[in-house]
Amino acid sequence: MTLDVNVLGDATQPRVELSAADPSEVPDVQVVALPFSCDDGYLVLGPGAAEVYDTDDVDLLGVLEHHDASGKAGEIVEHLVLGADGSAPRSVLLVGVGETRPSDLRRAGAALARKARGRGRVATSIAALAHDAGLRAFTEGLVLGSYSFDLKTTSGKPPAEFVLAGLVRPDSRAEVLERGLAAARAAWTSRTLAQVPSNMKSPAWLADRASEVADEGGLSLKVWDEKALERGGFGGLVGVGRASANPPRLVRLSYTPDGSSRRVPHVVLVGKGITFDTGGLSIKPAEGMMNMKRDMTGAGVVLAVMSALTAVRCPVRVTGLLACAENSVDGNAIRPGDVIRHYGGRTTEVTNTDAEGRLVLADALAYAVKELDPDALVDVATLTGAMRISLGQRTAGLFSTDDALADHLVTAGTTSGEPVWRLPLVDDYEERCDSKIADADNAGGQPGGITAALFLRAFTGSLPWAHLDIAGVGDSPGDAYEWSAGPTGFGARLLLHWLELRQPLAGVRGAGGRR
Ligand code: BES
Ligand code: MN
Ligand code: ZN
Repeated sequence: MTLDVNVLGDATQPRVELSAADPSEVPDVQVVALPFSCDDGYLVLGPGAAEVYDTDDVDLLGVLEHHDASGKAGEIVEHLVLGADGSAPRSVLLVGVGETRPSDLRRAGAALARKARGRGRVATSIAALAHDAGLRAFTEGLVLGSYSFDLKTTSGKPPAEFVLAGLVRPDSRAEVLERGLAAARAAWTSRTLAQVPSNMKSPAWLADRASEVADEGGLSLKVWDEKALERGGFGGLVGVGRASANPPRLVRLSYTPDGSSRRVPHVVLVGKGITFDTGGLSIKPAEGMMNMKRDMTGAGVVLAVMSALTAVRCPVRVTGLLACAENSVDGNAIRPGDVIRHYGGRTTEVTNTDAEGRLVLADALAYAVKELDPDALVDVATLTGAMRISLGQRTAGLFSTDDALADHLVTAGTTSGEPVWRLPLVDDYEERCDSKIADADNAGGQPGGITAALFLRAFTGSLPWAHLDIAGVGDSPGDAYEWSAGPTGFGARLLLHWLELRQPLAGVRGAGGRR
């Protein structure tokens, strides 16, 4: 029996609707969730609490004090209210909202969604506290806190449904809700793509998912199979992919905003799509190989972002390139010391076959520079283990040749809850990538994150370029806020928050003025 999985179907994602009603008055609700915070040492209950007091005669502040509640974002105190007239018991969830900043509301949303799983409809007044950015963050938290993916034969509890109640003019918030749901769905998709095991996930499988996204979203699509890659001179993709029974693919997806002129700026996104990384002949030890099904996270992120551009009304042209291969072991595998020729002609000596990500990215970057005339290039890749050592598992590494582009991405990371920290492209280390026999060596040594970035920079044709190294953040050590244990799909929210700005390329060298 073959396993199959419907990754792009969103059957398990929660429904979220808007309502003007007081949370206690929303029909068919088993759970009412109310916000609380701590102001100057005093616990304060948010909207909707007075009505619960009136109908059920419960001292909710007393309940919070009894539980020593602090009000920090995501803290939850549950109180069961027995229906006075014999009606079914209802649960009141008191949810800490910290200082009601968007990041607090995102955490509150995720905590609420985890707690409410399997409990049907939930009415909450938390969104009534929020402006647009807070509503957006709360929505993303609700959806991602509801995340689950498994291939078990027994089904777990379904996510709750949410009614965002107590809103003054619910209709006026619909667009923000819609954008939040679209961004969250993209984050969900990229997470699921990374979770799918590699016996179900080959380069061709990823290309098929891209074709579904293209069909649904009206994007144009081109796929290079292994023969076309060979003919086209994509030596990195061919070299890395040649030892696998699942041959490599390059996928190109293009989005054009409605009513745009030819002069609209053009962003190219490139994702590392290694569907499994054994290390090749420079083989990884067993522990190091364990999580390598997620080495295609960058390509999954780019694919998920492409699927949501219309919904968030991205104003610029975007082309997504997925550089997909499986780095495997066989008699015809690429060997340490082999020299490959990338798209466009540059040569690389492969001194370590486990530094494969930069080999496939180099082809895609060179292709973008030569054929796509981009105003900015951004790649996303689980590239180096060094990231986890320098930045840990909650902040990704950013490298960039353009300060404005870097600033946009840092800001988008902060607003979206996917933080990145900029690291330097130290020119003095560039000679570590020198090879005696080729234009570059693919394993330039320490510091690993920087030498990898410098290797890539040579393929970016001095265009504004940013590189997100998400190796450290690609896997969450546990359930925390909107993160769930395991592969994270990190980067989709960040890129969407950036690409939906009115001018994503404002201030970027040579691009800002073009609209
Ligand atoms: N896919 C790995 C990077 C990685 C490591 C991702 C740990 C997630 C968790 C990448 O292909 C790799 O193997 N990088 C090597 C490069 C080295 C051989 C120059 C690394 O970082 O050790
Ligand atoms: Mn590797
Ligand atoms: Zn890899």
